Amino acid sequence: MTAHIVLLPGDGIGPEVTAAAVSVLEAADARFGLNLQFASHDFGGIAIDHHGDPFPDATRAACEGADAILLGAVGGPKWDQGGPRPETGLLGLRQALGTYANLRPITLFEGLEDLSPLKPDRAAGIDLLIVRELTGGIYFGKRQEGDEHATDECAYSAEEVERVARIAFEAARSRSGRLTSVDKANVLATSRLWRKTVIRLHESEYSDVTLDHMLVDAMAMKLIEAPAWFDVVLTENMFGDILSDEASVLTGSIGLAPSASLGLGPRGLYEPIHGSAPDIAGQDRANPLGAIMSAAMLLRHSLDQEDAASAIEHAVRTHLSTGARTADLGGDMGTAATSDAVAALI
Ligand code: NAD
Ligand code: IPM
Ligand code: MN
Repeated sequence: MTAHIVLLPGDGIGPEVTAAAVSVLEAADARFGLNLQFASHDFGGIAIDHHGDPFPDATRAACEGADAILLGAVGGPKWDQGGPRPETGLLGLRQALGTYANLRPITLFEGLEDLSPLKPDRAAGIDLLIVRELTGGIYFGKRQEGDEHATDECAYSAEEVERVARIAFEAARSRSGRLTSVDKANVLATSRLWRKTVIRLHESEYSDVTLDHMLVDAMAMKLIEAPAWFDVVLTENMFGDILSDEASVLTGSIGLAPSASLGLGPRGLYEPIHGSAPDIAGQDRANPLGAIMSAAMLLRHSLDQEDAASAIEHAVRTHLSTGARTADLGGDMGTAATSDAVAALI
């Protein structure tokens, strides 16, 4: 078997955390004989600089031909001044790949309780999975820009809700059997459709899963008050974006959170949930563990290599248990030294 992995390092700390993840994947390859092949392509701001387009055709073709795609991060102040935006490329990539379900596991690692902004007893036991709808809603609705008036349309079809809900129900079955669907059904028509569709699927196929519904404002509150209460959380695109940043920081740093974006078939897009962090780019200060655990998710979901995926996750836990910390976790270990240490544990 040869697995073709396209790397999209992107901008800011993207190239640093991607290089870190690749070195850990190479260690996993050496141990498990995965025969991984990597090809790097321009994407995001760097692609605007080189080709005038954040998602050039050559990058698109490479992604469509790959078994999996590993992305660093895109964006930065350089491309915020008008003209094409790196973020538009990211939305185009998610749409081109049809990756409608974004899995964002949020876990508090043993020993990091004191780094949570919450009191340690409240942070204890955080272990949730946010299933974020990724190719619909307000991100992809009709947009009208303007100086006096602007519009962003939010649209969902029942089919779009059902397919992502199915992934969340399946995830709940494989975990503790509990699913919380988050919406704003007291105001939004799309949320009422969302809730109705989730209830219908629950009744017809997943009545063994314990389902509850929560309004997004109340959910944001409960996430701070009792984060360990949540298991699988299903929500639409923009709510998922916001709630996952909030949830991630409860575990100590956004730099720890990985993600997998899946659609039909095994090909997926893997990226840490953080952005390009221009404030620390190029300083060897980025936490690469979110990118490294995204690489583990890649092995699990796209390449069906559970043993190698678990070995990476185990190495990350062991690494943190030694007290090693990057700057975001209050330590002074660099990005490259962190990935060397994790790779050595595989
Ligand atoms: P950000 O996630 O880049 O940074 C927020 C804060 O978290 C910053 O203080 C940063 O230093 C810190 N941080 C982020 N990742 C870290 C890591 N791995 N290690 C240590 N600290 C880390 O969010 P932002 O500043 O709002 O956005 C910066 C740019 O990134 C914007 O252009 C935005 O559009 C883009 N962005 C891209 C993605 C992506 O490519 N998937 C995701 C989010 C934001
Ligand atoms: C994320 C990011 C992206 C999003 C941006 C950069 C388009 O914040 O992956 O969470 O909003 O989806
Ligand atoms: Mn985000």
